[in-house]
Amino acid sequence: MSEHKTEPGASYPPSEQAIRAIVQEHQSLWRILDLLDQLLSDMNVNEQRPDERLLSTIFDYIQYFSARVHTTPTDIELYRRLGEKSPETVPLLDKLAEGYVIGHEKLQELRSCLASCIERWPEGREQFSHALARFTEALRKHIRKEEGVVIPKARKFLDEEDWRQIIESRDVDDDPLFGERVRDEFRELRHQIISLTPESLGGLGLKHSSQMTAPDASQEILSIKGLVSSYGQIEVLHDLDIRVNSGEIVSLVGANGAGKSTLLMTISGLQPADRGDMTYQGKDLLKVSADQRVVDGIVQVPEGRQVFSDLSVYDNLLLGAYTRGRTPEVMDDLERMFTKFPILSQKRHNLAGELSGGQQQMLAIGRALMAKPRLLLLDEPSMGLAPLVIEEIFSIIKGLKDEGITILLVEQNASDALALADRGYVLETGNVVVEGTGDELLSNEKVREAYLGM
Ligand SMILES: Nc1ncnc2c1ncn2[C@@H]1O[C@H](COP(=O)(O)OP(=O)(O)OP(=O)(O)O)[C@@H](O)[C@H]1O
Ligand SMILES: [Mg+2]
Repeated sequence: MSEHKTEPGASYPPSEQAIRAIVQEHQSLWRILDLLDQLLSDMNVNEQRPDERLLSTIFDYIQYFSARVHTTPTDIELYRRLGEKSPETVPLLDKLAEGYVIGHEKLQELRSCLASCIERWPEGREQFSHALARFTEALRKHIRKEEGVVIPKARKFLDEEDWRQIIESRDVDDDPLFGERVRDEFRELRHQIISLTPESLGGLGLKHSSQMTAPDASQEILSIKGLVSSYGQIEVLHDLDIRVNSGEIVSLVGANGAGKSTLLMTISGLQPADRGDMTYQGKDLLKVSADQRVVDGIVQVPEGRQVFSDLSVYDNLLLGAYTRGRTPEVMDDLERMFTKFPILSQKRHNLAGELSGGQQQMLAIGRALMAKPRLLLLDEPSMGLAPLVIEEIFSIIKGLKDEGITILLVEQNASDALALADRGYVLETGNVVVEGTGDELLSNEKVREAYLGM
């Protein structure tokens, strides 16, 4: 357990400390919900086009709040302990936990409603307005249930030892109330919201261009420092550092067994990290579940393609959008995928297992795109394919970069991968041994010898 500064209120019994913390979290969220109501009424009454930057920041904040304050809610000690001591609350707790998952989906929907509201102003207004109103209502209901039912029950059924352990389970470095790092990030988001909120609504009225700033190519999207990962007793990644900037293609080359796939799986959350830091879009990734990482835009195309052979092409693609539900938007994206990959459209009713290797690779990429990735992790997409098809796959990858998707590409086919890459890393037995721009690596003596056969 990490040492931490004594928090205000530390002299109160554990139950009081924990409940104060929860209520305080709720209050700060509630104020943001009030702000959303005001922004909504500005939009509807004054016909004001919504401020995309402010609303996106608010959505980031809410997402951060539920992902970080209540990471995988079923794990929350409070729910767990209360469920044990008061079984009749279990259905309610389950429902609340489910609410987090639904909330995340709704938030994603809300973001795309906002985008189309601005794009198709004023036609898109009504849809966004309704979606936002429903969302804030649901969140308020959730808070009321926690305060009105969960907390009173918890007061009744839990003892001070329970509360002490609840606090302890939260008492990690990245807890917004007890941990310093996340608390700082959390404050920073609040600070941005308050700065961007108009003065008429009690904010600081910071002027900014109403357009979202284009992603800055030099901005770091993923940063990994000192990463260690093992299978059982065997350490495979040793103190590894890499970074990926937004909009880049970063290639990772290295011999068999170097740890390339392990690194990708650690990023997507399928393989645990023993130590180290992993930051994605400024947020600590290591506490985020694998599913949530997909929602946040980290999507992996695994080695060996791994499509569902017994399912149709169509169903494979739909499964890619499992975090998004079967919304009209998902169905639109599905059609877009068929336009992008005509061969998949032609084979939409075939079983994936009937496709050729190249077609399966396209399906695997298409399926990943259905999850709307921001950071796409590709593990040896050219493996086992004919040269003509490899060329096609690389050209697709280039196209994805042009669409603004950031790509981390693992390849044995080092010359093609480095030619395509903005930057690259050479991995040897779990360590980065050379890094540089794609061109630098292509002309590097060691790389030429070991990986390019020159
Ligand atoms: N599930 C596992 N259990 C135990 N050891 C594993 C497991 N998966 C991989 N390893 C070991 O971890 C090391 C790194 O493997 P990894 O698959 O990450 O390498 P790679 O660079 O992707 O190799 P390749 O080019 O063959 O795909 C290897 O020594 C491998 O034997
Ligand atoms: Mg591999």
